[in-house]
Amino acid sequence: MSASGLADSRLADLLIDGGYVDRRIYRDPKILELERELIFRRTWQYACTTHEVGTPGDYHALMVAGEPVLVIRGDDGVLRAFYNACPHRAAVLTGGRDGTCGRVLKCMYHGWAFSLRGQLLAVPYAEEGYGPGFDPAAYDLVPVHCDTFGDLVFVALDPLVPTLADYLGPFADRLAPYVDGIEAIGRNSWVYEGNWKAWHENFRDNYHPEFTHRAIHDLTPHYADAGGNWGFDEGHSVLQWAGPGVTSHARYVRNLERYSGVRLGAIEAPVERTSRKGAPDEVLAVFPNADFQPRATVDAAGQKAGFIQVVTPLGVDRARVDLTVYSSVHDDPATRRMMLENVADTQGSWGKISTDDTEAAYRVQLGAKATGAGRNLYTRGTAPGNGGPDAQSRDEYSQRAFFRAYARYLSVPAGPTR
Ligand code: FES
Ligand SMILES: [Fe+2]
Repeated sequence: MSASGLADSRLADLLIDGGYVDRRIYRDPKILELERELIFRRTWQYACTTHEVGTPGDYHALMVAGEPVLVIRGDDGVLRAFYNACPHRAAVLTGGRDGTCGRVLKCMYHGWAFSLRGQLLAVPYAEEGYGPGFDPAAYDLVPVHCDTFGDLVFVALDPLVPTLADYLGPFADRLAPYVDGIEAIGRNSWVYEGNWKAWHENFRDNYHPEFTHRAIHDLTPHYADAGGNWGFDEGHSVLQWAGPGVTSHARYVRNLERYSGVRLGAIEAPVERTSRKGAPDEVLAVFPNADFQPRATVDAAGQKAGFIQVVTPLGVDRARVDLTVYSSVHDDPATRRMMLENVADTQGSWGKISTDDTEAAYRVQLGAKATGAGRNLYTRGTAPGNGGPDAQSRDEYSQRAFFRAYARYLSVPAGPTR
């Protein structure tokens, strides 16, 4: 199957059909190749917050469509992105995911040094080895598209929608209130056995939590009875739940004891747990693989604390989640600590919510191997259109928006540059 053959064979039509999805997209390695080529290369990918690369020389390394990319703050204060590959003999230029390189970016292999704007500055023993005709300008780092939205940094190898603003579209208005004036305060990454889409669609899904997550069921049994659910043509979505929050301190403590196995006795309830402050909780999902979960109940003034998850495919049945916890730059230490404790309790490789979802993704992956067993069903919410704040929180407009964009990207053949 070639990238250009996809539109010809109308495979995209087979994959998405009125809310039904062919399970081949979870198990076929050839489809993962197409996803990397036609979706991950061409979508804006969340990289980090601006504060993580706040000082000249600060960098953040990530993989996009299976390729190494580097975001770096220039000596002129400008953020840029490059392929993270030495023009000499390919070595990646960074030793870790984050760090600072000082005033030059130096390759550890043969010592070639680059400016913070990507220009080759120095080559050890150049003249006596390469002769006078050596042209350093031919060996500058190769740039990658880089743009910001609020304090979020995005990169794109070969964007199908050229600007980040156009890529986000009207969804940008939903995301904007949460992502200006934030900074990362904690991170966790883990690998699960399942297709990358199983994780992302899970965060667009409010049908599962009261069944998958016993802790949620026991603590807030009616939390999804109110809320909203809607998709955007660009593939992004909003999921809201606005039912009663935690109303009983005693129940909260019992729940913690039950699921931690630790006898806690009399403890003070975290502030967040004691009351809802009016706004619904939300998951804001950015196509194809990032979601933002601001905590409406943490910061009544700014509602800036929350967490960001990015899922990256490692294979058709293996994926990594990179979770970043953030707070408002103005939050005091107690609020930051509360947010970190909340996420540590529920999310990440050990969190009681994420571990349940990990099991669900694993079971989906296993079940999707059954070739004779049908298609996945995403048809909840029967009104035409994209849903909205009045749709049921358990509806599936959000997943359908994802799969419509997914099919559209897969049906546009790779451009002439590839
Ligand atoms: S590979 Fe980078 S200097 Fe040789
Ligand atoms: Fe879940």
